[in-house]
Amino acid sequence: MESLDKSNGEKKWLRHSRIGFIGSGKMAKALVHGFLGNNKISLENPLWISGRSKGSIQSFLEEFESHKIHTTLDNRELVNNTDLVFLCVKPLQAEEVLREISAIIASKVFISVVAGLTIKNITQLLSHCMVVRAMPNLPCQIGKGVIPYALNRDQDTKNGEMVGLIHYLFSLLGHPIQISEDLMAAATALVGCGPAYVCMLMIGLIEQAKAYGFPDLEAIQLMNEMVLGTLSLLMETKRSPEKLLSEVKTPRGITEAATQVMVRKGWEDILLEAIEAAKKKAETLEANFK
Ligand SMILES: NC(=O)c1ccc[n+]([C@@H]2O[C@H](COP(=O)([O-])OP(=O)(O)OC[C@H]3O[C@@H](n4cnc5c(N)ncnc54)[C@H](OP(=O)(O)O)[C@@H]3O)[C@@H](O)[C@H]2O)c1
Repeated sequence: MESLDKSNGEKKWLRHSRIGFIGSGKMAKALVHGFLGNNKISLENPLWISGRSKGSIQSFLEEFESHKIHTTLDNRELVNNTDLVFLCVKPLQAEEVLREISAIIASKVFISVVAGLTIKNITQLLSHCMVVRAMPNLPCQIGKGVIPYALNRDQDTKNGEMVGLIHYLFSLLGHPIQISEDLMAAATALVGCGPAYVCMLMIGLIEQAKAYGFPDLEAIQLMNEMVLGTLSLLMETKRSPEKLLSEVKTPRGITEAATQVMVRKGWEDILLEAIEAAKKKAETLEANFK
């Protein structure tokens, strides 16, 4: 009963929240699709979007034709009209925006999804507001994202109720997980970039299916369903990938012929090196902001 009341309270809070997104690119679109497209809640206040050019605002609006969204080219107008502000610009564009809004952000919740921008960088310019650093990935667009997030110091004790509300807000986009900020570069490399690794695997599988003679659409469907089925089996049966691999790969069988090649060619080393390169890049971005 208590958890039902709690969830009703969170829904009520969110329904009345005034939410804005600074930046009108891919990530802002994914988040807005996630919030507007989920059927758990309908927001009472139209969302606010700010951008740098009329063109990008226009392309944003075309994607959300059936929804009322306020737009502006003035980030300060957005902040003045919202309580929860998402920063969705590129890393190099972030500092200018932070300086622009620093005098009017007090007592609001500021959520940055900018890679490499640390909570310390933000609080140096934006004091007196709650700061959340998050690294959502693009599947947030359909409510199936992963959202690692970190908070500025003491928020758990100082602002516990708001932390719960933020967690609830993120849950509309998929699976939120509060992490220590030290893990943010790793989360960026694994979760933010993760869909790209999966897509590269898919491209290889689909291209090979086409090369063997499957028509294009059939090749895509065959491989999409194979990957979806494998993942669903892992999740529904809580089986580990190692266990499922041992079940598919019988000794001296057909699958083993493939996996031996992957091991010999250093498949795992390539993947680990790629993830490490992404993590280093994220750490370099963090270092450059300091
Ligand atoms: N894409 C991902 O998968 C992903 C995942 C996790 C986190 N992120 C983070 O999300 C952030 C945005 O990435 P993105 O892929 O969405 O980039 P993007 O598509 O280039 O979008 C950036 C947007 O910010 C706008 N902008 C630039 N300067 C502005 C300013 N001063 N005021 C208001 N708007 C401004 C740009 O407008 P114009 O189009 O007019 O230039 C553009 O619409 C990045 O920091 C990235 O690290 C991205």
